[in-house]
Amino acid sequence: MNFFHGCTALITGASSGIGEEFVRQLAPHARSLILVARRRDRLEALTGELDRPGLTIHCHAADLADEVQIEALLAALAASGERVSLLVNNAGLGDHGLFEESEWARVRAMLDVNIQALTRLTHALLPDLVRAGRGAILNVSSIASLLPLPKMAVYAATKAYVTSFSEALRAELRGTGVSVTALCPGPVSTEFGQVADRPNSRDSLPAPEVFKVPVEEVVRAGLAAVEGDRARAIPGWLVCVVMTLTTLVPIFLLRLFLGQRRRGES
Ligand SMILES: NC(=O)c1ccc[n+]([C@@H]2O[C@H](COP(=O)([O-])OP(=O)(O)OC[C@H]3O[C@@H](n4cnc5c(N)ncnc54)[C@H](OP(=O)(O)O)[C@@H]3O)[C@@H](O)[C@H]2O)c1
Repeated sequence: MNFFHGCTALITGASSGIGEEFVRQLAPHARSLILVARRRDRLEALTGELDRPGLTIHCHAADLADEVQIEALLAALAASGERVSLLVNNAGLGDHGLFEESEWARVRAMLDVNIQALTRLTHALLPDLVRAGRGAILNVSSIASLLPLPKMAVYAATKAYVTSFSEALRAELRGTGVSVTALCPGPVSTEFGQVADRPNSRDSLPAPEVFKVPVEEVVRAGLAAVEGDRARAIPGWLVCVVMTLTTLVPIFLLRLFLGQRRRGES
């Protein structure tokens, strides 16, 4: 964890699940943490719990689906004088069900939070990281980024963007001292499933227990990948093996498999 000693980390989606665990694992090492999410009470409770001498924690309640609130966050950051050395773009949401039956507001929120906010924060903070000649961006993607997923069509497509963007940016930044890593978890027990399930739907997000990886392990794998300057991390050996093999399957065979699932099946 030497890499993170004295760092200033901005973590989006810090109020629950994977983001909250990033805060917990970085708190013993960081000099400053900037926590972002909509639920301020959660951020403040976490701050109270992790408070220690030598660590400053800023809570910023913001809806990352709202461009105005993102700009306000960036302005507050500039005014605070904090120089972010680690950006963890973790905030995100899913939606499970047929695209034709999806609510536009939910689709829009996925595009805004999973893609637009991540891209805007990266765009705003990257020049300082490059000038400093040291820093890291950790984008929380998903194994859903590695293949098209019926009934999670938009979510998987947003994560495909995140993985592709991370890889391209990493290549652009070679030699600058700034690394980019895409963390691609499989199913993790967080609030993600409840958020992704549609109200009154009996068709809930399938998350086989055998593939579930504890949130602590997911975050450890993400931080280890940043420290090791790795492009991508798929936490959990079983998930990693299955996904690596899946990516080797030709698309025409994948289409046969994906097309076999009936519309009513989850
Ligand atoms: N859990 C899984 O199975 C899984 C698997 C692969 C990838 N992931 C990815 O992991 C990341 C974290 O998800 P999680 O599993 O930890 O789910 P989670 O427990 O639901 O946490 C999502 C976080 O994102 C924040 N967020 C959502 N919409 C937001 C908005 N409009 N503005 C600001 N913050 C917002 C939430 O904060 P507020 O609600 O307080 O705003 C919360 O802190 C996501 O990018 C997700 O796609 C999850």
